[in-house]
Amino acid sequence: MLPPIADRFVAGETADGAVEHVRSLAADGIGGIVNHLGEHHETPEAAAADADAYLTLVERLADADVTPHPAISIKPSQVGLGVDEDCFRRNLDRVVDAAADAGVFVWLDMEDHGTTDATIDAYEALSRTHPGGVGVCLQANLRRTPDDVARLADTDGAIRLVKGAYDEPADLAHRDRAAVDAAYRDLLRRLFADCTVGVAVATHDEALIELAADLGARHDRAFEFQMLMGVREGRQRELAATHRVAQYVPYGSAWAAYFYRRVRERRENLAFAVRAVLSSLRS
Ligand code: FDA
Repeated sequence: MLPPIADRFVAGETADGAVEHVRSLAADGIGGIVNHLGEHHETPEAAAADADAYLTLVERLADADVTPHPAISIKPSQVGLGVDEDCFRRNLDRVVDAAADAGVFVWLDMEDHGTTDATIDAYEALSRTHPGGVGVCLQANLRRTPDDVARLADTDGAIRLVKGAYDEPADLAHRDRAAVDAAYRDLLRRLFADCTVGVAVATHDEALIELAADLGARHDRAFEFQMLMGVREGRQRELAATHRVAQYVPYGSAWAAYFYRRVRERRENLAFAVRAVLSSLRS
């Protein structure tokens, strides 16, 4: 069972728990982007099982019939990229076909740099077969990302811009926080000024949120803010009064790695986790 300290960041272990959370977000005008936790599957069976889990999730989300329409977000290595590219594309096609029928948007998460080409290739192909139905995450820390933005500038889908969560080598990525922030700002300006692809601004960084709001108004462009479950939720609700906002909602039995990643990211979260453990020992 999910311990109470993890449920700030993870919406339970089952698809039903995730759908319930998406319903509660919808009441505040916030969309849900649901991720079935899992990554790095090395066998076709494990990859197919997670693709099947997404089929069930898509069905549940369609049945829930909530507005804003929910989306799903998939890690390529969880549906077969660690096996081979054919396995990845086969499983992904199954999920994207079902999601298209159900009116559910599909995001591709971006993993470490070894997966970038295959992920972008898959997105580009799907943006042709399922126009307006798919999006891909690009990481501002990678030095290649300006070229990837130029390549995908006019695709019929969406780009989610993040700072990047993977520890990448210096020849491939900016490692200094200020350089990553500067790259993010530059990419945002390009996305708003030069591209027709949809834009999702996925950050909790207030300076970048303000820049995006300003660019959106200046270029008269619709876009979406995206943040994680459990992080700056008050700000998410505040932004939802004036902008489109979606929350990334992870669920599933593989919650531990995700939870510890969020705790490691920030000292305050570590203090929160320690306090929760201590109070559970006292009660
Ligand atoms: P930064 O880390 O600088 O944080 C800015 C401020 O936000 C902090 O000062 C703090 O106030 C707050 N904050 C940030 N993280 C917090 C936390 N855990 N707890 C409490 N407060 C916190 N990465 C990737 O490589 N591939 C992917 O597919 C995705 N997908 C993705 C989807 C969505 C919707 C989001 C929001 C993020 C991702 N990421 C990602 C993660 C991303 O790359 C990055 O690691 C995190 O978003 C943290 O970076 P920020 O932009 O928030 O800035």
